[in-house]
Amino acid sequence: MKKILVIGSGGREHAIADTLHRSNQELELYCAPGNAGMEAFAHIIPIQDTDVNNLLQFAKNEKIDLTVVGTEAALQAGIVDRFRAENLTIFGHTTAATRIESSKEFAKQLMREYHIPSAEYRSFSDFDEAWDHVSARPFPTVIKYDGLAAGKGVVIAETPAQAEETLQKMLIDHIFGKGKVIIEEFLTGPEFSLMCFVNGHHVYSMPVAQDHKRAFDGDQGPNTGGMGAYTALPFITDEDVQYAIDHILQPTADAMCQKNCPLTGVLYAGLMKTPDGIKVIEFNARFGDPETEVVLPLLESDCYDIFEKIATGQEIENSIKWSKNVTLGVVLASKGYPEKYDKGFEIEGIGNITTTVYHMGTAYKNEKLITNGGRVLMIVAQSKTLQSAHQIAYSEIDKIKCDHLFYRHDIAHIALDHE
Ligand code: AMP
Ligand code: GLY
Repeated sequence: MKKILVIGSGGREHAIADTLHRSNQELELYCAPGNAGMEAFAHIIPIQDTDVNNLLQFAKNEKIDLTVVGTEAALQAGIVDRFRAENLTIFGHTTAATRIESSKEFAKQLMREYHIPSAEYRSFSDFDEAWDHVSARPFPTVIKYDGLAAGKGVVIAETPAQAEETLQKMLIDHIFGKGKVIIEEFLTGPEFSLMCFVNGHHVYSMPVAQDHKRAFDGDQGPNTGGMGAYTALPFITDEDVQYAIDHILQPTADAMCQKNCPLTGVLYAGLMKTPDGIKVIEFNARFGDPETEVVLPLLESDCYDIFEKIATGQEIENSIKWSKNVTLGVVLASKGYPEKYDKGFEIEGIGNITTTVYHMGTAYKNEKLITNGGRVLMIVAQSKTLQSAHQIAYSEIDKIKCDHLFYRHDIAHIALDHE
């Protein structure tokens, strides 16, 4: 029996743990800090994802065979470097490789150096210089904080006043800490996410997916951590995917090897199909959330095998197999999210759901399931077509009774309108 530790507590980590749980191998699963959904099949360990000292101690004491890192915070806290220094097997990138996500400037410089298609940019740490640059350029303009900012570090400034306010907050008030900003050309076109398992020079792509970042129907309202996702994007062809692998993911993996920080985990490419071709919007150094919740249910190869091979630097001999089905997932969030919201409301009806449910922010109180976060649950349906996955997901949602949740009714609208 192998012991596996999954680091994180969101829907993404629930999906990772669930996929491991479906493995043919005998696995004993541990999740730290985990969530209420994982309790059904894993031991919940109350250690935070960035508490590397205690996670290391736990992994040593319990003789954990493999650790799988879900969160960027744990990667940036150096969990992979520390575990490897102690000869523990861990799936995820070193802090040096994590810079592909944690420093936008590092990622942009790498793309510029290796001719990987992305928006033109310049970086600034001085407010006046940044302002001179922005005011001489067309609007909208894209301003990005150069560091982890919990998904809030990107502003599309439509007007000079908005740009000035953003630069003021980032470069003078330092709301995300002292750091630079990247000012980027504004690109247009449909966005999609292409995740790959990467092991040095070896790149194994996953099915493409699309996230829905805005809170409300019709892509209205504030940006969120993601309100739903689906696979099988009719506007992205197989040739587009091949182009992205050949011109973006493979060269990025090779470039990271050349920089002596090879990737040994998941590379997430947020891409845009612009009139001038596919370009990189962002890289992440881990599985996407909520994309993972719709992508991993399609994995037919053994998940443990993939993680273990990559964590130990071995090649995956047979290609990774994916189901031809389509998945669609809808996030149920607390009313008020992504701004202020209350927690602790009872959720009823979850036991009647016949499709996959991933927990994102729930807890048990007196044996009742309650809301315990901004994003609370994700209902994922799998079917032969997007239409039927859509129909299943929304009819299952009707079984959930909780007046304090809301969700988008139009997940996959771009794809469904396209057909
Ligand atoms: P990021 O955190 O870098 O993914 O940015 C968040 C969102 O901002 C993306 O999903 C895009 O919708 C948008 N965005 C980022 N960069 C650009 C760009 N250069 N042009 C247009 N939209 C962008
Ligand atoms: N879905 C976007 C992300 O995981 O960052």
